[in-house]
Amino acid sequence: MNNVITTTHNVHPLLLDRWSPKSFRDTPVCSNTLNRLFEAARLAPSCFNEQPWHFVVATKSDAALYEKILHCFTEDNQAWAQTAPVLMIAVTKLYFEHNGAPNVFAWHDMGLAVANLTFQAVFEGLQVCEAAGIDHEKVYTELAIPEGYQPCVGIALGYAGNGDNLSPVLQQKHNRERTRKPLSSFVHYGEPDLHMKLNEQQKQVYEMMKGKFEFGDLRPVFEMARARIKH
Ligand SMILES: Cc1cc2nc3c(=O)[nH]c(=O)nc-3n(C[C@H](O)[C@H](O)[C@H](O)COP(=O)(O)O)c2cc1C
Repeated sequence: MNNVITTTHNVHPLLLDRWSPKSFRDTPVCSNTLNRLFEAARLAPSCFNEQPWHFVVATKSDAALYEKILHCFTEDNQAWAQTAPVLMIAVTKLYFEHNGAPNVFAWHDMGLAVANLTFQAVFEGLQVCEAAGIDHEKVYTELAIPEGYQPCVGIALGYAGNGDNLSPVLQQKHNRERTRKPLSSFVHYGEPDLHMKLNEQQKQVYEMMKGKFEFGDLRPVFEMARARIKH
């Protein structure tokens, strides 16, 4: 099986066994199992223990909601996500409940909760495939998500299928080898050399877009904190 990955150092088997399938079996996931997955998500650590994560969940037995969530995935992703017995949209709260300030760790904490859910899923014999490819506007309108919350990812969950009914392109994705960068590329015992290695075209894209993505920028928060200390 190509989804098996080898490592130089021994790690927990759940990490080795997790992969992102593009095909799921028809077998439904029972509500007790789902509850264990959400319990695992619930145990994730979070900044100020605010637990900003939310999961909008539909199983195939709730056909109307399932269709609604499926249509929040981009068309490319719908092609494989529709095989999953459970679909979710992960939504995170962008402000702290305790003081109303922006929670710049909301995405980070959502990721921790999804990771917990994912490894519990693997423990249960299930697999998860996340999808960045969702239509954010549709999520806001179709699922009535208010201001102050942000959709993060779509999640398809189920027992991995064999991929036989997929298009050749998706079959190739389903069966592709899992690859990773070596440890030496991201573990730095000392000053890291993180200089930009983009080509000219990539640099242009970076320059064009860098001012437009502000989420996760801590500077305004620190500036406000400093200003409050001065007064
Ligand atoms: C945040 C996130 C977004 C992703 N978005 C998509 C997506 O839109 N479509 C897709 O086919 N796979 C998506 N994936 C799956 C990744 O392509 C996959 O995790 C990666 O290639 C590594 O493969 P592995 O999970 O099997 O180890 C996403 C994964 C993550 C974590």
